[in-house]
Order: sequence, then structure tokens, then C-alpha cells
Amino acid sequence: MWMGFWYLFVCAVVLILIKHHWSRRKIYQLTCSLHGPPALPIFGNALMFWCKEEDIFERLVKVVNNYPSPMRIWLGPKLVVAVKTAHQIEKIFTSSSASSKDDLYRFLKVFNGDSLFTSTGNEWKRHKRLIAPSLSSKYMESYVTVARRCCRMLVEKVGEVANGELIDIDYYVYRFYQDVVHETLTGHNPGAQHGTMDAMISLCHEAYVLLHSRMTKAWLHPDFIFRKSANGKRQSYITKSLRTLLCEHIKLAPINNNDNEEFKSVYLRMLEEIEKHPEMYGNQNLMDHIVTLFSAAEDPTSTISCYLMIMLGMYPEIQDRVFKEIREVFGNGDVIERITFKDLSRMHYLGMCIKEVLRIFPIAPFIARKLVEDLDIEDNVTLPPGSTILLCLYHVQRSTEYWKMPDEFYPEHFLPESVANRHPYAFLPFSAGAHSCPGQLFAISTIKAVVISILPRFVLEADGTWKDIKIKADISIRPVDGYKLRIRRRIAHSS
Ligand code: HEM
Repeated sequence: MWMGFWYLFVCAVVLILIKHHWSRRKIYQLTCSLHGPPALPIFGNALMFWCKEEDIFERLVKVVNNYPSPMRIWLGPKLVVAVKTAHQIEKIFTSSSASSKDDLYRFLKVFNGDSLFTSTGNEWKRHKRLIAPSLSSKYMESYVTVARRCCRMLVEKVGEVANGELIDIDYYVYRFYQDVVHETLTGHNPGAQHGTMDAMISLCHEAYVLLHSRMTKAWLHPDFIFRKSANGKRQSYITKSLRTLLCEHIKLAPINNNDNEEFKSVYLRMLEEIEKHPEMYGNQNLMDHIVTLFSAAEDPTSTISCYLMIMLGMYPEIQDRVFKEIREVFGNGDVIERITFKDLSRMHYLGMCIKEVLRIFPIAPFIARKLVEDLDIEDNVTLPPGSTILLCLYHVQRSTEYWKMPDEFYPEHFLPESVANRHPYAFLPFSAGAHSCPGQLFAISTIKAVVISILPRFVLEADGTWKDIKIKADISIRPVDGYKLRIRRRIAHSS
């Protein structure tokens, strides 16, 4: 009797597999023309990524390097197509069949709730209509007043360690951004630069690692399993703590003294907008937006500022040019009080340096989109619906095809004539299309403010070249050994 049962069981499994493969025959046909590593039955190429979490990024970079674009990777039954040429990336960003974010983004819901990262369709449109204007150039001058005040404290804190010893600049810059971002969003400055936020900062770091860990562990993908797991419980604790804190800051805001009467927090701006036009925005959870903006803003801005300071430390002649530009635009002496949004836009060379940092160290090295319909990406190459498209910004931004000196730190890549001669989709640090970053003006302005405050007082020194920086990735890419710098006081005659 048992023999009969097993026989029937095996037949049933074989039939199910045949039916499954038959229903996917179109996908297999279309992927025949794509290059990629040899795939095993059932696992596909998933075992290539069976390694320590911190090594996954490096492996992905290598495997994408090894094949022409577009290339395919099978993660079990999931088809991932990686594209790394500017014209293919343009096709993806401009196609309506690839405008949806990949399913991986739903994991952000645990942390951010329903906001830009996790919503779709009309709901996402209503959210973006509310959020994007609150970060527009119209209000940037008032946000710069917040950054300016926090810069003063940053310079004081950096002054305490400006003795030529090796330090990790992330400690200071991260706390600076906590103050700037909390105050801009909620209206309250928590005093992170005095150490008041250290516990929350380590919780946030932990949340980002948990998020990345979930993305890379298929068994934690189903919500009901994740919620019951130790990681899920921890994530929920951190989320609650962060939300409570941001709510408290919003309540504390009115008693906070801002030196600019025009200043209004992003929260207040959104609230007023909803009150004025309730029919336009419908029901929106403002706290979800504030948590989303907080997590989207604090980590990348701080990361890019730190990378930039190391680059200036590694390339003293570039640091000198930035210093000279500060003198030309803001004059001599202490310039912090003179920093305005209008004058920040006159810092062209510094802007080029920031772009060069974003080229080499893109915060989002890969962007994932879900394909909902067939997409012809090349003559005779059609990508099938249901596949995940991986836009490899990391590769295109380091490719010899688009960059004169891809392996150098070379801000001249962003001279107007070089930009005009390059494919516009070869440099997309803030993404492109409908889902592009609404915070880029805020990011660039505050990063510039940091450098303009620091350089008139201090000289930065770092060892090696950028090629010596070994990178690891969680939700962002970071140097394995931290952001190591030596800081010295600038002697008077050189200022
Ligand atoms: C150097 C700093 C920053 C970089 C490099 C950066 C980069 C990006 C990128 C690449 C995306 C698209 C992600 C995707 O499509 O998967 C994005 C989206 C987003 N960013 Fe930024 N960002 C930065 C700073 C900021 C700041 C300061 C804010 C807010 C104040 C912000 C808010 C957002 C939001 C809300 C989205 C989601 C947009 C949407 O889905 O419509 N970012 N950012």
C-alpha cells in the first residue's frame, strides 16, 4: 500500500512541476537570450549569495561585472534582470511597465508605515503631492537657518578633536544631521550634538541592519513569520520608540526658539496644506510621512558628507580649491553666519565635488523595479513581466564608457561641457522619473553648509586614495573601517 502511495505522490509532484514550468514557458523563452551564470534546478543562482550578509554586495557587484547588460540571475523561481548601460536604464525609467517599485520595498512598511516608499498608485501620488512641495526651493532658505545654527555646534565639537589624531568623523556629522533633520521635520532640536540622542542613534543603526538582513533572508519575507521572529520583535520595538520620539518633538516644537520667524517645520507645512485643501489630500497619516522622511534623510546626507570630507582629506589640492571658492563666495573670517541658500548655489566647484562623491559612492547602488508587462529593451531582447529589474547605478557610474577617469576622484567630470556630452542616465544618484528623491535640494544644501563651516577653520587629512576604501553594504554603502580623518586647525595666514 505504501509503495502505491509514494508512486502517486511522486507522480503528483512531477505533474505539478511540469504544469508550473509550462505556465512559465514564455519567461524561459525570453530569458534564453540573456547572459548569466549557470543556474541549478530549483535554486537557480541563489547559492552564489549564500555567504555572510556583508559579502553579498561584493558578490553581486562581481557577478554583474562578469556579463554584458542585460544579464539574468535566478534566485530560486524569481527572475532578476540586471541592467548597467545608460540607454537601457533610460528605457526602464521611462517605461510605464516598469514604474512599480519591487516587492522588496514592502519591508520598509514595518519601519515607515504607509508613505512614499511603500504606497502605490493614486495613494502614492497623493502622498508625493503633499510631501514634495514642503521640500521645494521655496522653503530652503528657512531650512538653511536650521543647518547654520547646527553648523556652529558642529564646528565647536570638531574643534575639540582638531589635534591631528585619527578620528571617525561620522560620530560628529551623524549627530549634526540628527539635529538638523529632527528640527527641520518636527520643529524641535533634540540636542543630539550634546549626546542626548545616542541611544536612539544606535537603535536606528540597528533598524537599518535588521531591514537589510530581512531583505537578504528569504525565510523572513512573509510578514507573519517576520513578526514572530526575534528580528521582527526588535524592529517593532525600535519603530515604536522612534515614532514616540518624533511625536514628542512635534509637541515640544512651539516652545523652541528658531532664529528665523519664517521657519516652519515640514510637519507644520504639511498640516496646513491638508487643512487648506482636505479634498485634495484625503486621509493621510502625517506621522508615517515624518518617519519616512526622517529615515530617508538622516542616513544618506550624513554618509555623503562623511565620504566628501574623507575625499577632501585624501586630495589636498581639491580641498584647497574648495577653500578658495569659500573665500570667493563668502569672504574672509568666520563664514557660518553668512551661509544662505542663495549663496550655496554659487559654490559650483564644491557642487562638482559632491557629485563626484555621489558618483563613486551611490547611496542606492542598485534600484529595484517590478516589471508588470513585456518590455523590449533591445532589438530581439524582451524582458518578461513579473521579473525584478535591477538598475545597477553602481556600475554605470563607474563605467569607462561614460567617465573619462572612472577610477580617479575627478570633480571635472561635472564640468558643464562634460555633463552635456554624457548620456543623462549615466549619473542618477537621486534616481529618476516619478520616484526620484524629493530631498535632493535639502541634501545638497546641508552637505555644502557642513563643508563651508568646517574648511575655514580646519584642514582635513586622510590616508590613501578612494580605491583603498573597502565598502560594505546594508541599506546604504559604508566604508568597512569607518570615516577616518585627521583634523588640524588652519593657521591664520592661510585663511
Ligand atoms: C545625499 C542624500 C540623498 C540621496 C543620495 C538620496 C537618494 C535617493 C534615491 C536614489 C531615491 C530613490 C530610491 C528608489 O527609487 O528606490 C530616493 C528616494 C527618496 N528620498 Fe532621497 N536621497 C537623499 C536624501 C534625501 C533627503 C534629505 C530626503 C528628505 C528630506 C529624502 C527623501 C526621499 C524620499 C521620501 C524618497 C522616496 C521617493 C518616492 O518614492 O517617491 N532623500 N532618495
